Amino acid sequence: MTNTAPYSIHALELGPMENFIYLLHDHASNTAALVDPAWEVDKILQLAQQKNIKITDILLTHSHHDHVNGLEQVLDKTDAQVHLIKEEAKFWGANLSKPTLHHGGDTLKLGDSKIKILHTPGHTPGSACFYIGNDLIAGDTLFVFGCGRCDLACGDPEQMFHTLNRIKTELPATTILHPGHNYAPQAPTSTLHEQCEGNPFLHFDQADDFKKYRMQVHDKIRDTPYYAVSRKTALAALQ
Ligand SMILES: [Fe+2]
Repeated sequence: MTNTAPYSIHALELGPMENFIYLLHDHASNTAALVDPAWEVDKILQLAQQKNIKITDILLTHSHHDHVNGLEQVLDKTDAQVHLIKEEAKFWGANLSKPTLHHGGDTLKLGDSKIKILHTPGHTPGSACFYIGNDLIAGDTLFVFGCGRCDLACGDPEQMFHTLNRIKTELPATTILHPGHNYAPQAPTSTLHEQCEGNPFLHFDQADDFKKYRMQVHDKIRDTPYYAVSRKTALAALQ
């Protein structure tokens, strides 16, 4: 299969929490945006070096420790520009030196590639997903057959419900999901179509049902790896 996209996505699974760290590599400029610098930074930088890619940008899906604990180390070794959603910077309160603060809908240009920044609150107030070509880098918003917790500081299940609804209705079914953690039983990525069929968090039409499932039911009945769940089974779990 020939790759006609102007970019490639290189994934590294690092750390004790099965985090995915991504390099969004623009072919024309040989530059990359590094998503969620964390854990073994040497491995990330080595990968970029092996492929002769310059890391020019750092994109943060959100500010939880397991997604940002390598940020300082990467900034020591590169002059990459940090990007995050404005609300997340406020929530985090970290003293970043000249980050670019974004609103949902902003677009970032990386050589010939365009990355759209989606504001996807719920897991944290300023969570972001990055949409490039037909690929969605989803952080802890959407996992393969799962979604991010909403019971941590400033998490909000109502917002998560609306966020997931927007992803479900506004992005093409062929979109490839690249989650922030590897909780999948087999393939680490999936299509949005597969998720609409089997991700229990995408089965609820009512915010209250979603909230009950996310906050009270889910963690008692499921554990990783997450397998597909039918709509019927998800709705029955609320009873
Ligand atoms: Fe998180």
